[in-house]
Amino acid sequence: MSRKYDILVVGEINPDLILSGDVEPAFGQAEKVVESAVLTVGSSSVIFASGAARLGLRVAFIGKCGDDLFGRFMLEEMRKRGIDVSYVIVDPCLSTGLTVILNKGNDRAMLTFPGAIGALRADEIPTDLLRQARHLHVASYFLQDALRPGLPDLFRHARALGLTISLDTNYDPAERWEGLDQLLPLTDVFLPNAAEACALMGTPDVEVAALRLARIVRVVAVKQGAEGALGVQGEQIVRVPSLPVAVVDTVGAGDNFDAGFLYGYLQGWPLEKSLRLGTVCGSLSTRAAGGVAGQPTLEEALAYL
Ligand SMILES: Nc1ncnc2c1ncn2[C@@H]1O[C@H](COP(=O)(O)OP(=O)(O)OP(=O)(O)O)[C@@H](O)[C@H]1O
Ligand SMILES: [Mg+2]
Repeated sequence: MSRKYDILVVGEINPDLILSGDVEPAFGQAEKVVESAVLTVGSSSVIFASGAARLGLRVAFIGKCGDDLFGRFMLEEMRKRGIDVSYVIVDPCLSTGLTVILNKGNDRAMLTFPGAIGALRADEIPTDLLRQARHLHVASYFLQDALRPGLPDLFRHARALGLTISLDTNYDPAERWEGLDQLLPLTDVFLPNAAEACALMGTPDVEVAALRLARIVRVVAVKQGAEGALGVQGEQIVRVPSLPVAVVDTVGAGDNFDAGFLYGYLQGWPLEKSLRLGTVCGSLSTRAAGGVAGQPTLEEALAYL
């Protein structure tokens, strides 16, 4: 299919401010000194888009940000990474969101100001843009408040235009896990982590959850952190390990897994090979602080397959 973009990402745009060291705040106007502060590309959708572009996929992005410092920072970083941002809506009435990540050893706490994160509506996505893409990816389902109600119609519209569709809901902050009944049957590739798959299917057993999901969507790839990933397509169940790496932080590991897995899916690779590229991209992304600094090129990633 000769279309301009391999993937259209519909998502949220915000930077991450990562503070590391002794980051536990002390109230009472006490000032503490931390080891490092890094402002970097945040938001699941943009980290994914950046990982996919780094692998050589042609990526377009639609989302909303404010006409402010964080918004400009994100747009500049996205352009630098080869993401087409010409369809991003800059709304001067909105403030771009921000996540502050307090990174302490293997654990982290996150403070998010949502700002424009939930502002995009499905009816703001031009049909002309959908027509130019082979595949549609949606992440952060539970954060994209204005988008959610229109997603079933958007998915139906995209399918009618010949696109395949992937969904990574990420965690539901409200832990209700609602609204996916209509959406999953319209999804080709579903990309939850283990906790999300189990919560959605109401079972503590990841394999049971994955098998149930595989009856609804075409392909399920369940991310299992340091353990690797589990893939199910029809009757086929595949497990692949993660790479042993010296982890700096796991921010965006799941999004980078998604980029690797979908690269393989869009090339028509077998399930196991796509899962392997997913885990390689996820694991390599943990080598550096934040979600984008450790993203591998296709050549780097393939060397580990
Ligand atoms: N500690 C780790 N060591 C090695 N690889 C890891 C580690 N954590 C994650 N990965 C790699 O990243 C992939 C995805 O990670 P994870 O299961 O954390 O996804 P997730 O929970 O969706 O992440 P996110 O927080 O980005 O949403 C894993 O399949 C694995 O390949
Ligand atoms: Mg995730």
